[in-house]
Amino acid sequence: MNLATEIQRLKKERNAIILAHNYQVAEIQEVADYVGDSLGLSYQAAQTEAQIIAFCGVHFMGETAKIINPNKTVLLPDLHAGCSLADSCSAADLQKYLQEHRDKNYYVVSYINCSAAVKALSDVICTSGNALNILSHIPEDRRILFVPDQNLGAWVMEQTGRPMDLWRGNCHLHLEFTRNAIEKARQDYPQAKVVAHPECPYAVRLLADEVCSTEKMIAYCKNSPATTFLIVTEEGMLHRLRREIPNKIFIPGPTDHCACAQCRFMKMNTLEKLYLALRDRRPEITLPQELQVAAEGPLRKMLEWSR
Ligand code: 13P
Repeated sequence: MNLATEIQRLKKERNAIILAHNYQVAEIQEVADYVGDSLGLSYQAAQTEAQIIAFCGVHFMGETAKIINPNKTVLLPDLHAGCSLADSCSAADLQKYLQEHRDKNYYVVSYINCSAAVKALSDVICTSGNALNILSHIPEDRRILFVPDQNLGAWVMEQTGRPMDLWRGNCHLHLEFTRNAIEKARQDYPQAKVVAHPECPYAVRLLADEVCSTEKMIAYCKNSPATTFLIVTEEGMLHRLRREIPNKIFIPGPTDHCACAQCRFMKMNTLEKLYLALRDRRPEITLPQELQVAAEGPLRKMLEWSR
């Protein structure tokens, strides 16, 4: 049995769409209807007329699709595909913090890499692709709490000049990139442009020629006169770059221990699990209605503001 062919057949039969994040394994990217960053995937989820969304990404991404589509079936090939960053801010901790700092009357901006319960406690959601734009909509007199990614928050502050209080959360994978490892790679490829995700630590971002979301990496590398790029993010990104820009050279950003960094959660989804999910219509993302409704407002606000 050819899994890719079976997946295409099931997709038609079930009226399903396959959405995949840029970090997914190559075989999944190849069968997906759309491959993109968190922002693009959110818009795709909001627009689709398919009855089933097979979401190839991590749990919070599937949840996001479900928040926007409470009446559709959202499948995640592996329900255990979590996110260390989302886990670094629990709704209970955030609620407690907000209660303890009620006097600050925080405007809570949550990076999309968080649970539905954290989204429900937020005023607006953002992604790395639209964070700067989202900030420009927030009233000047409001004090901002940015959760959960400290590095992305610091980058947003650097770019906008707007002070924010930052939650101390991190993506385990982007923390693997060190100044030492990237400097060494730069010596090996002196002609390469360094492109880093804003979840990288400050010392790594300082070495980058461009700091941007995964989708913007495609445009940057396409439009740049350079021909070699060091891509400092999850290595799944390289597949999409090589496929769309075949005449340029892409080198994965190394860590101190490995030639590239792989997110074990993103890699939990496999072609076989995607096939089984479409065949059996599970595992499915479900959300209590109250939570879905509470999380939808801040998410819709993001989609509206970043249009
Ligand atoms: P993007 O929105 O840039 O794709 O980032 C998603 C992510 O989870 C980065 O770790």
